[in-house]
Amino acid sequence: MQTQHLTDREEELRIAAALLRDGELVAIPTETVYGLAADARNGAAVASIFKAKGRPGDNPLIVHIASKEQLTPLVAEIPPVAEALAAAYWPGPLTMIFNKAPTVPDEVTAGLSTVAVRMPSHPVAQKLIQLSGCPLAAPSANRSGSPSPTDARRVAEDMDGRIAAIVDGGACEVGVESTVVSVCGDRVRLLRPGAVTVAMLEAVAGSVDIDEAVLAPLREGAEAASPGMKYKHYAPAARVVLVRGTAEAYVRYVNDKAAEGVMALCFDGEEAGLTVPYLTYGRREDPAAQAQQVFEALRQLDERGAALAYTACPSPEGIGLAVYNRLLRAAGFEVITLE
Ligand code: TXA
Ligand code: MG
Repeated sequence: MQTQHLTDREEELRIAAALLRDGELVAIPTETVYGLAADARNGAAVASIFKAKGRPGDNPLIVHIASKEQLTPLVAEIPPVAEALAAAYWPGPLTMIFNKAPTVPDEVTAGLSTVAVRMPSHPVAQKLIQLSGCPLAAPSANRSGSPSPTDARRVAEDMDGRIAAIVDGGACEVGVESTVVSVCGDRVRLLRPGAVTVAMLEAVAGSVDIDEAVLAPLREGAEAASPGMKYKHYAPAARVVLVRGTAEAYVRYVNDKAAEGVMALCFDGEEAGLTVPYLTYGRREDPAAQAQQVFEALRQLDERGAALAYTACPSPEGIGLAVYNRLLRAAGFEVITLE
């Protein structure tokens, strides 16, 4: 298949919208990461997403909408707390999981009785939903298991020849995937941290439960509240090990391993003194910059041929919790704490 490379000019967005209406796959920019979109009402189109990504069939997708009116036909009911969260954070990087309406195809929800919905704020994503008239089912636009793409070039690396088109909307502002919460139960439950932080959720919903999968591997035999959290995710080919400690302790620790041919993935401004090759991913005290850069840094590790990357451990506050959550998975939960 020849993949069309489209810009965000109106006439090219019309081409993309027509492809989506015809049941084709189109990669689209969102404010979080690029998504691989199909008409959410078309089960066959949605099934082809799983094929293009190599995604396990039991991992459900997020449906992207451009207006509140598009939510009603997707869900069984809208709990009051969901109304409040939508009023506060939609459009934006927040996904909510609802009990689904019977018409949502099983391909979208992987057979679950719930459906994940979000209203992206990216103008190109909104425009494509409007022009196509379709709610868009879209996972991140990477091959399953590799880091999510935050620009169109990284999408092309994974998807060229496998999908109808890629729309280039520039680099993603947030850089990590949306916050995912379940609003099905009595309480709001955080399943995946993102740019809508725990504090932001609590400001609207009161207290919020944090699913144990956010910070720990799934226990043997346990059922994943969010199936995506059970896979080794966001992982480059390189082995990643998180190193918790001060800048000085980190540099000393990594330099000690120089003979083993390792790489360092450290914070901006803390590379001085490193004797091994390194990449940086934002300043220690700037979790928003870390979020923007972390997936690109993981991809660059592979380009540099790193076998083992000692990675400075982010602080899990604010959006830093999302960066930490993604790196924990990239590291297979391997964390070293320095004295
Ligand atoms: O920012 C984002 O959310 C991006 C952009 C493209 O919108 N999308 C994204 O999709 O990250 P994906 O498929 O890579 O991650 C969706 C996550 C997975 O962990 C999946 O298991 C979970 O949401 N999920 C989807 N539907 C669910 C449901 N009904 N119940 C529980 N978890 C669900
Ligand atoms: Mg993904």
